Amino acid sequence: MDHFDYRNGELHAEEVPVHRIAEEVGTPFYCYSTATLSRHFALFDEALSGTEHLVCFAVKANSNVAVLKHLGDLGAGMDVVSAGEYLRARAAGVPGERIVFSGVGKTREEMRVALEGGIRQFNVESEPEMEALDEVARSLGRIAPVALRINPDVDARTHEKIATGKAENKFGIPLARAREAYALAARLPGLEVVGIDVHIGSQLTELAPFEQAYGKLAELTGVLRADGHDIRRLDLGGGLGIPYERSNSVPPLPVEYGAMVKRTVGHLGCEIEIEPGRLIAGNAGIMVARVIYVKRGGNRRFLILDAAMNDLVRPALYEAHHDIIPVVAPAPGAPRHEHDVVGPVCETGDTFARARPLPALVAGDLVAFRSAGAYGAVMASEYNSRPLIPEVMVRGDEFAVIRPRPGYDEMIGRDRLPAWL
Ligand code: LLP
Repeated sequence: MDHFDYRNGELHAEEVPVHRIAEEVGTPFYCYSTATLSRHFALFDEALSGTEHLVCFAVKANSNVAVLKHLGDLGAGMDVVSAGEYLRARAAGVPGERIVFSGVGKTREEMRVALEGGIRQFNVESEPEMEALDEVARSLGRIAPVALRINPDVDARTHEKIATGKAENKFGIPLARAREAYALAARLPGLEVVGIDVHIGSQLTELAPFEQAYGKLAELTGVLRADGHDIRRLDLGGGLGIPYERSNSVPPLPVEYGAMVKRTVGHLGCEIEIEPGRLIAGNAGIMVARVIYVKRGGNRRFLILDAAMNDLVRPALYEAHHDIIPVVAPAPGAPRHEHDVVGPVCETGDTFARARPLPALVAGDLVAFRSAGAYGAVMASEYNSRPLIPEVMVRGDEFAVIRPRPGYDEMIGRDRLPAWL
């Protein structure tokens, strides 16, 4: 469920007509609903009620400081994968003790930033990383709390670019080497083992792969405890999928996910951490664009928008589907025609959708891409020298620009000429 609905024939973000934002901010832009963010965070929080837990929002999904602050104020923790994300979470007022640091290639400098600023735990992904973290922690006179990310060799059955839990993926320490790795961690004086971490992929649409992975984790918990490790936290990662196509079947709900978590690891007496990104932010955001031209090709009808693959790259990168809807509701029963929805960028990959049935639209009309709140703005680039598009946050009947559109001067002014030019 989200808060982007038609009212009186016009798409609203909560109580704000989307066209009003377009008039004030210009197009394209991202627009986030605070009510949806709150609701999705609460769904996870409630799904784990009765067990000690922390819902750590995966900052990579949407790292705008206003979004992070909104979630942080609700009590969310944060899952970060870079010093930049760590500092964004801190800028949003989230205390270090609610921030977990994941990622396969943390640099020593990033470790230092987090150790000095305060951190709940590092999710460590390799023996060399453990040794580096030990060194950095000792050089600062600190102890780094660690969970080891275990690769459970489970098929997440999702798009290959976002599956992370198979043995051939770059992530985590193979389950078969877990005991050895934990023994090493226990020997390193700069580290303190606090738990186990797993994350098997993103946009999972069934519970079975999670259940398989968490079952392996439960078993491992027993083994590691018997080896003398104080396993008190289990970080179960993120990955629960969202319905991108309204017409499609719905992935499991957080409450079902929570029940499965309790069933598989609830008896271990561990504090549970989860790292959802997409499910919290995805359907809490839309991207709004304007039709520049409707062009008839050889045998196709192209809807050329002012948004492009640099603004929302998911269709080009993962063949991802985003529902595209007109901001003014079409008359009931209005005929639909197949359109190729494209942007102005000079490559054929700049295609949002092929043969998408849409009502008749004309230049100047507004359309909205649904499910764009996660992995949308954060993956944008300035390809074709198109400035990053603004982000807007809505709360009830008010809205605020939470990242303005940079001017051309600002974009070009970042470049520097070497002395010889
Ligand atoms: N934790 C870790 C360690 C992760 O690597 C990820 C996502 C998450 C949590 C959050 O997963 P979520 O709940 O959002 O599925 N750009 C891609 C998605 C990449 C996900 C990478 N890792 C996309 O647009 O589909």
